[in-house]
Amino acid sequence: MKVLSLGGAGFIGSHLTERLLHENHSVMVVDYYDDKISELIGQPGLTLLKQDIREDNWGLEEHVKDADVVIDLIAYANPGLYVKMPLEVFELNFTENLKIAKACQMLNKRLIQFSTCEVYGKTPASFLNGNLVNPDDPAHATFSEDHTNLIMGPIEKHRWIYASAKQLLERILHAYGLEQDFNYSIIRPFNFIGPKIDYLLNETDGIPRVFSYFMDALIHGGQMKLVDGGNHRRCYTYIDDAIEAIYRIVQNPNRVCDQEIFNIGSPHNETSIKDLAVLMKDIYANDMWQEGMPELPEIIDVSSEDFYGKGYEDSDRRIPDITKAKSLLGWEPEWDMVSTLKATMNYYVTEYRLHYGMRSWKHDLLKKAMASKH
Ligand code: NAD
Ligand code: UGA
Repeated sequence: MKVLSLGGAGFIGSHLTERLLHENHSVMVVDYYDDKISELIGQPGLTLLKQDIREDNWGLEEHVKDADVVIDLIAYANPGLYVKMPLEVFELNFTENLKIAKACQMLNKRLIQFSTCEVYGKTPASFLNGNLVNPDDPAHATFSEDHTNLIMGPIEKHRWIYASAKQLLERILHAYGLEQDFNYSIIRPFNFIGPKIDYLLNETDGIPRVFSYFMDALIHGGQMKLVDGGNHRRCYTYIDDAIEAIYRIVQNPNRVCDQEIFNIGSPHNETSIKDLAVLMKDIYANDMWQEGMPELPEIIDVSSEDFYGKGYEDSDRRIPDITKAKSLLGWEPEWDMVSTLKATMNYYVTEYRLHYGMRSWKHDLLKKAMASKH
């Protein structure tokens, strides 16, 4: 199969590109970075176009025409960015993504669109707390693709522009499906985590997701900061589990994924952010920390306004209902929380700088890991 993978060199994209090549598909990656697939460059079947898709006339239609299936992973996907530059988030995640969808619709190509579990927004429990018999019942936060209502916060909380842009894009794909028989599948990832998720904070001017903030504090010293007490909960999904599900959606056996939305996530790996911090610190202290390394970080509280600025509001809890993925794809996640964190953290402690160079490298264990690789 010829796959056009837009954003195919990002976190999810790099793992998916590797899997597709392994299964002997031909993959055309369009991305403006290539660091995360640098070790794949030169492999038979891979073509890379380093391109900013916001530029005019870069050849979108020709590349879509040439593909059997198009996968769209391009987005700003980190909450700090939704608060810092909401208009750019909208332009990339909606306007540019819509151009891709339109090209696929016009050229009659199947589109696999990456959306987000954030489209579910907040739980009813977050605002009906006093009126619910058992507000902590997971049933209040278990979201199903075709039945659950989508609850966004007020406009002045501009964090929701990301989820709103993704939601509108989903609604347009659905309408293309209804009116023009367009063939799409939508994926709603629930906090995928694994090697290459984000760069560490000290090493880029980017804004990572929580794992990389915490990992950075563990490796370089500093503080692990809990936003608004760290009581919000997420279901973490190891990237290998996620890629297995995504690959099955690409294969689309008996066309079961046509015009379907899929939650992809691990319902059994639910954790509060506070517990995530404690668990990561314990794993690091027991398995990775050595004398001479920076002191283990303290875990402190910080307000969301101090951490993100005005306009932030959190998704309080989200658990995927994966009934559809189980029944149509025969997929279930296998990785538990501790194994997921150990595998991801181990990558950042031993492999990360072998791939991305040694900027701000001050870590003895890493030096040893480097030495043993030569
Ligand atoms: P990522 O940031 O690692 O990947 C996005 C890729 O798009 C990057 O490689 C980036 O270079 C590329 N890109 C961004 N703007 C571009 C442009 N203008 N031109 C060309 N390339 C551009 O993010 P990810 O975690 O791999 O997420 C992939 C998709 O899945 C996104 O749509 C995201 O919203 C969605 N998603 C991811 C998660 C998750 O758990 N990682 C959760 C929910 C939704
Ligand atoms: C992210 C992004 O919206 C998308 O990539 C995606 O839609 C979603 O993850 C996903 O992976 O499914 P979120 O989980 O809120 O959303 O992103 P994180 O930055 O990882 O934050 C998780 C939680 O940790 C939030 O409650 C945040 O406030 C908190 N946090 C973040 C801290 O307590 N400390 C930090 O240092 C950073």
